[in-house]
Amino acid sequence: MTETVPFPQDRTCPYQPAPGYRPLAERRPISQITLYDGRRAWAVTGHELTRRLLTDPRISSDRTDPGWPMVSAAAAVEFNDVQQKVVKLLTALVGVDGPKHRARRKLAQAGFTVRRIDSLRPKIQEIVDQRLDAMLEHGAPADLAAMFASPVPLMALCETLGIPHEDQEYFERKAHQILFGPDAAAAYDELMAYLGKLIEKARRHPGEGFLEALLAERGDSTEVDHEEILQMFLIVLVTGHDTTSSSIALGAYTLLQHPERLAELRADPSLWPAAVDELTRLVAVPDGLQRVAAEDIEVDEETTIHEGDGVFFLFSLINRDKDAYERPDSLDWHRPAFRDHLTYGFGPHQCVGMNLARVIMEIAFRTLFERLPGLRLAVPAKEVPVKPGEAFQGLVELPVTW
Ligand code: HEM
Repeated sequence: MTETVPFPQDRTCPYQPAPGYRPLAERRPISQITLYDGRRAWAVTGHELTRRLLTDPRISSDRTDPGWPMVSAAAAVEFNDVQQKVVKLLTALVGVDGPKHRARRKLAQAGFTVRRIDSLRPKIQEIVDQRLDAMLEHGAPADLAAMFASPVPLMALCETLGIPHEDQEYFERKAHQILFGPDAAAAYDELMAYLGKLIEKARRHPGEGFLEALLAERGDSTEVDHEEILQMFLIVLVTGHDTTSSSIALGAYTLLQHPERLAELRADPSLWPAAVDELTRLVAVPDGLQRVAAEDIEVDEETTIHEGDGVFFLFSLINRDKDAYERPDSLDWHRPAFRDHLTYGFGPHQCVGMNLARVIMEIAFRTLFERLPGLRLAVPAKEVPVKPGEAFQGLVELPVTW
């Protein structure tokens, strides 16, 4: 039997797969990995196989399945000890299969229509400008991750959810408390009461917000389950904030390492939408999407994924499959199908927020590089600290000057 590779491993270059994953790339499209507890799992690394498996109903998202694979002991403890309500939250959309998932997903999708997202552009531009004003006022050097990449998507998500500006800090603090404590249960009750008031307001003066879209999707009865709506708000924050924030930080780092490509974008801003997707492909923030096999799945004549086996999808390698991309390691926004990468997942759980994420990143990158023509790293590139290689990639900080 071939030797397995330990998973996860740290990246050394922030936008390249961990060097230790090389054997996995050589054994595309699927091979075995060893998890922190010695358990084995599957690493899927081929583009075509990923599309096949992520649409296979035998591949389950059920986080309560005893076979659900964990990336670290900390993740396992967090999941087991977490309060009942938070478990419910995690499993409310991302962690369910089949018809139950479809019903929940329809609710989430109602809030993310293309028209709604497009209407948010001016507001997102305002948020981006405000954050840049604050960073300029602070002066160089500054941490672009903390001062820009993190607050921009957080504020844009609150705006999307229709949380009034003056309540955003409160909402975010309470949401954080629900997820990470202390007093998660008290914070949950507080946020439920707050949401009740927002719902009442949306009923009295209906606008065209996220909440109104959710209420309309559930039918305009007073029986609407407030808990379900609060869960949806929290899911949006949990799934949308860190992913977008890390993509902005890693994307900015990558562009600063490719000055000649960046010059092309500055000269022709119409290239930004394609550039955003190309950066998303290359930096691949989710790099180990988890699943569990609900039944045996014969992948090919030699490989069978057995019921109960854990399966990880490694997007840093999937997005560099040379059967799917020419020169997969290079940054090139002139690829004909630039949205073909799988960083947003694939199949029934594919990211509902991807069009919003695209708009946030496009406005953030374009404005950042327009307003700061001299932007550069404030430390040698190798000294920019990379987050440990768990399932999501990112930077601890991104020191810049201009
Ligand atoms: C660059 C930024 C983002 C990346 C890379 C990303 C990536 C992903 C991926 C890989 C999945 C699939 C999860 C799975 O199959 O289990 C997913 C699902 C999801 N994403 Fe995103 N996401 C991003 C931004 C956002 C934003 C901004 C939002 C919300 C506004 C969002 C909301 C969601 C939700 C609600 C799901 C669950 C969908 C379901 O289970 O049916 N994401 N995302």
